[in-house]
Amino acid sequence: MWILGIDTSCDDTGVGLVRDGRVVVNLVASQTLLHQRYGGVVPELASREHTQVIDGLVQQALTQAGIGVCDLELIAATRGPGLIGALLVGYTYGKGLAFALGKPFVAVHHLEGHIYAALAQHPEVEPPFLALVASGGHTHLFEVRSWGEYKLIGATLDDAAGEAFDKSARLLGLGYPGGPEIEKLARQGDASKVPLAVPLQGQEGFAFSFSGLKTAVARALEKGYAPADIAAKFQQVVVEHIVQVVTRAAQHTGLTTLLVTGGVAQNATLRARLQAAGLRLLFPPKGLATDNGAMIALAAWRTRWCIPQSQVSLPAAAYLPLC
Ligand code: KG4
Ligand code: ZN
Repeated sequence: MWILGIDTSCDDTGVGLVRDGRVVVNLVASQTLLHQRYGGVVPELASREHTQVIDGLVQQALTQAGIGVCDLELIAATRGPGLIGALLVGYTYGKGLAFALGKPFVAVHHLEGHIYAALAQHPEVEPPFLALVASGGHTHLFEVRSWGEYKLIGATLDDAAGEAFDKSARLLGLGYPGGPEIEKLARQGDASKVPLAVPLQGQEGFAFSFSGLKTAVARALEKGYAPADIAAKFQQVVVEHIVQVVTRAAQHTGLTTLLVTGGVAQNATLRARLQAAGLRLLFPPKGLATDNGAMIALAAWRTRWCIPQSQVSLPAAAYLPLC
């Protein structure tokens, strides 16, 4: 079964083709250069760029897979959450295509897409497990009890982890997206030179908090600490905070499998620290951690049995809880 997956929730146009649960093509038209000079995503520019590229990207994906549009058996697109103008481009395009072809349409939750991306190379994995989605817009820790059944057990109280990377990178004079930039600069720094505390250390729950770190980065810069040392300390503290919360959640729930997904899952220091925590870890393969269309098609493939009928009547939604 060929499934076309589309994601235009934020600043990248993602188009993926999945055949019987296997990713065949995954194309992402990045808007990084467009938004870089503003230090963050400009929603209106993002929507316009999606409109410009989406049709060509779908044609390119079909050509690469060696199939025609009539070979598609199901069309899936991100319904939300995200920037509403951006979401509407891919979502409406997907609905229109499904309608024209007379094929079913599946509306996918963006976070569900991220979760299924991390399962692309692990078809054997079965729930229950913990899933941490750490991206530019979310830091959500779910208990996945069965396929399609999620319990939110922890979330950020303020900024998302990726957002903290992006904002701190901006303060440090680095480019966007900030995660990879901070990761690069941190390699040249010495974390021990900068005092910075891990947030929410005394808590008993599973909340995250990152906005204080951004303020601490600004203070450290004012005090004259070297940007590379600040970057190294910031990254160390973010990673330590995440590791503390997820290991406590693992102990509390008794779950020993942790899926980590979203853009921040690409961070090598985070991966290394989690490996040391003794959990069974699932990460998305290269190219599937950040936003993409293949993850949306994978989510539709895994959940297609639970979806009663074509979902063309559901509206796109900027705010859309998963559970
Ligand atoms: O999942 P994603 O592509 O988009 C959203 O749904 O938000 O995540 C993008 C976020 C950005 O904030 C970016 O700075 C962060 O992921 N990111 C990283 C790394 N690569 C991307 N954060 C830390 N380390 C990285 N290597
Ligand atoms: Zn995302």
